[in-house]
Amino acid sequence: MLEKVKETADFIKDIIQDNPEFAIVLGSGLGKLQDEVEPIHVLEYKDIPHFPQTTVVGHGGKLIYGILEGRKVLMMSGRFHYYEGYPMEIVVFPIRVFHLLGIKNLILSNASGGVNPNYSVADIVVLKDHINMMPEHPLRGKNIDELGPRFVDMSEPYNKKMIAAAEQIAATNNIHLQQGVYVGLQGPTFETPAEYGLIKAIGGDMVGMSTVPEVITAKHMGMDVFCLSIITDLGGPEIAFAVSHEEVLNAANKAMPHVITIVKGLVKNYE
Ligand code: HPA
Repeated sequence: MLEKVKETADFIKDIIQDNPEFAIVLGSGLGKLQDEVEPIHVLEYKDIPHFPQTTVVGHGGKLIYGILEGRKVLMMSGRFHYYEGYPMEIVVFPIRVFHLLGIKNLILSNASGGVNPNYSVADIVVLKDHINMMPEHPLRGKNIDELGPRFVDMSEPYNKKMIAAAEQIAATNNIHLQQGVYVGLQGPTFETPAEYGLIKAIGGDMVGMSTVPEVITAKHMGMDVFCLSIITDLGGPEIAFAVSHEEVLNAANKAMPHVITIVKGLVKNYE
């Protein structure tokens, strides 16, 4: 596996000939953020050795190297989900490539279902923590010592400095930004009313089908992680609305301008 990660990183390094400072992963319906980047190189996943292909509507399949607010970023438009059938080592493959490219900061985004009664559809929530309820762990198996330790500290899964910076940007721009705990489930079904109830009961504020494996892998390698989630639907025992993928994409669209403001501000000001 590590050999493949190295080959992919070398391939990308040869093309971009530079050291990006941030990797940004775009979640469901958040592809518009890519229009904000002044592209220098755009690589289709299918042209990158060992890179898997995406299978979900609303997810692209491009790695974009370019400039955002004067900073060098590598943006992944379209991510790989466990529910698509990939083994965990494929789901987290790009994150390991980012590390070998020397990237220290990882910015993630996703769509999620809110169970916190203070949340509304199209709210933006910054992750302060997560609960891993995926059936498989990305670090299970022989540890890759070259990448990180066997037992990984998870006391600060989401970088406090970046969270504080995001809060500041949101306040300056009049954006209602909340903080919450994300619960990662495998999907691909949305939750039953009782399952949304379970998420809330265990201390979750929102639930989704991505992010957690990527964060774990990034922390293994000592990266700093920041993640924004868009609440695309609400769930719970008393909320019997149906959820559709279209609805998820619509809510994501609505929140997009604010997400763009926060991510741009974060990248611009980060030291
Ligand atoms: N549950 C799980 N994943 C999701 C949801 C949800 O309600 N909304 C968007 N992604």
